[in-house]
Amino acid sequence: MAYKDIYAAWQADPEGFWMQAAGSIDWTRPPSRALFAERAPHYEWFNDGLTNTCWNAVDRHVAAGHGGRIAIIHDSPITRSTHALTYGELRDRVASLAGALRDRGITKGDRVIIYMPMVPEALEAMLACARLGAIHSVVFGGFAAHELAVRIDDATPKAIIAASCGLEPGRVVHYKPLVDAAIEQAAHKPDFTVILQREQEAATLIPGRDLDWHAIQAGVTPADCVPVEGSHPAYILYTSGTTGAPKGVVRATGGHMVALNWTMRNIYDIAAGDVFWAASDVGWVVGHSYICYGPLLAGATTIVFEGKPVGTPDAGTFWRVIRDHKVRALFTAPTALRAIKRDDPKGALIADYDTTSLKTLFLAGERADPDTIIWARDHLNVPVIDHWWQTETGWAIAANPVGIEALPVKIGSPSVAMPGYDVQVLDEGGHPVAPGTLGAIAVKLPLPPGTLPTLWNAEERFRKSYLDHFPGYYETGDAGYVDEDGYLYIMARTDDVINVAGHRLSTGAMEEVLAGHPEVAECAVIGVADALKGQAPLGLLCLNKGSNQPHEVVIRECVARVRDQIGPVAAFKLACVVDRLPKTRSGKILRATMVRIADGEPWKMPATIDDPAVLDEIATALKGLGLPRG
Ligand code: COA
Ligand code: AMP
Repeated sequence: MAYKDIYAAWQADPEGFWMQAAGSIDWTRPPSRALFAERAPHYEWFNDGLTNTCWNAVDRHVAAGHGGRIAIIHDSPITRSTHALTYGELRDRVASLAGALRDRGITKGDRVIIYMPMVPEALEAMLACARLGAIHSVVFGGFAAHELAVRIDDATPKAIIAASCGLEPGRVVHYKPLVDAAIEQAAHKPDFTVILQREQEAATLIPGRDLDWHAIQAGVTPADCVPVEGSHPAYILYTSGTTGAPKGVVRATGGHMVALNWTMRNIYDIAAGDVFWAASDVGWVVGHSYICYGPLLAGATTIVFEGKPVGTPDAGTFWRVIRDHKVRALFTAPTALRAIKRDDPKGALIADYDTTSLKTLFLAGERADPDTIIWARDHLNVPVIDHWWQTETGWAIAANPVGIEALPVKIGSPSVAMPGYDVQVLDEGGHPVAPGTLGAIAVKLPLPPGTLPTLWNAEERFRKSYLDHFPGYYETGDAGYVDEDGYLYIMARTDDVINVAGHRLSTGAMEEVLAGHPEVAECAVIGVADALKGQAPLGLLCLNKGSNQPHEVVIRECVARVRDQIGPVAAFKLACVVDRLPKTRSGKILRATMVRIADGEPWKMPATIDDPAVLDEIATALKGLGLPRG
């Protein structure tokens, strides 16, 4: 069947479409129907089914006789090691860890925070929670103790599972002291932690609270899979919003499995036994959906890569991994390719490796710039497929579904809406606009299975953030347009979220940290164009009247503050002191205009500006920083 027929089949009978997809999942009790709209505009899927994610991702493959198939390959150029786990081994390891957690009181519905680097044990921890019906919340290792503490207080976990350390090129990340500091800062205290001691750094364990990963599993009775309702939360994943408080995106069990399993075959063209590599981190949604759950649900082999696209040891690493493990599809962020292209502009290292196993390269996480797409396509000789999605949706809103049919690629577009998504471009009044016209991108409710039913502990915020602005729609927070052929073009965020190296960050959160500096009276953070990372955060600081601190000292302290409180992942390195910030007469800071000036783009004096002279001052300050530099 062609894409348009499948999309039309979904439009004609959405519930039938998803009930059929649900047939590929094992249920202890099959759902009686797909959609539960009783609480509209809150929609849920497969509520009355009973199932278990770990069973579907692991045990059922073993039960079907595929226990010897490779489930996970850990490839770590940082530790110069590679090892593989079969589905049978994975089942035993997960059942044992789950048994240990169960024996210490973890049961269905309990929250468990996971703070781990790219090691297979991170996936094992996620799956062990799923096995028990516990709700995991993975926190990215590049976040600092304060961010971890905020998540501890929101999720109120009974346990934290962490590793002693993470490994960044040339630097050991001391996870355990970060966990200790976060627990110290948080009002909520977990009952216990489980620490995986890595050989690169052994952490000091606090008796009575910290348990050793291996020691707690000694003599344990392996845990069975606990059936949970389709609507039961599988996990919470915090993501950046407009304010400093992260949003806890909830993923419900049934829809999550049904949707991911559908995408593996239809979008990524991956079947059982194929090797799929999402070069991301388990701390992001890509890691949840496509390092852990998606490939395992499909019975494929997933790669857990502990390295960087460049420098571990060089820009040929990705091609080496593809060759060594016969990767069929690679999913990465455009930033990673820009980093490789910068080090190896002619793609000379690609020729050193046999990459013929690679059939498709998928890109997401940020806008894919045409230069990068063309470079990758020409050097790898495979289709380069941009696709667009968000933490909230958990899987692609728009893609080129190569598993169904490879549609013509239009460079600059993540292609077309996937079944389940009725994507509309709206004007400010909520009316659909004509093709080619820029507007807010929204999805008609209900969203498909696998997307967020709500935010953890924040139903009101969920409605306000996503549903209230355009009644009857989910507001994506992205702006763009659709062309005559139905291809989408994603142009910008409509909120204060920026995208740095494929990482979603909140400028509001950084502003809160900067405003905490005793010399800073007022500040604004904007995302400016960056040739490698897409965007980089830039802070504009107004100091207290009469402040006599040298500006470079305040700037240095502000940079350190953001690193310390949000984490190195914020990549906050650029700041300047200005006398005033440009504002409208009603006091709103004109961030978008400052971005245009910083990026060297044409800009118009906003009619609502309070004092036009301020923008000249800003332009001078930005020139002093060497901007634009995109
Ligand atoms: N734990 C601890 N620190 C981390 C971390 C982690 N898991 N991940 C990143 N960091 C740190 C980095 O070490 C760096 O620290 P530094 O300021 O001391 O150098 C900082 O956070 C910023 O990291 P990043 O923005 O990734 O920059 P980089 O210079 O280290 O690497 C790239 C640049 C392009 C190679 C890298 O950003 C990359 O691979 N990006 C792909 C992104 C991606 O896969 N996104 C997933 C969404 S699909
Ligand atoms: P995250 O929730 O971290 O996955 O970030 C989601 C946001 O990243 C989206 O709302 C977009 O702003 C941006 N994004 C993700 N994929 C793409 C893409 N293919 N093209 C353009 N922007 C993208």
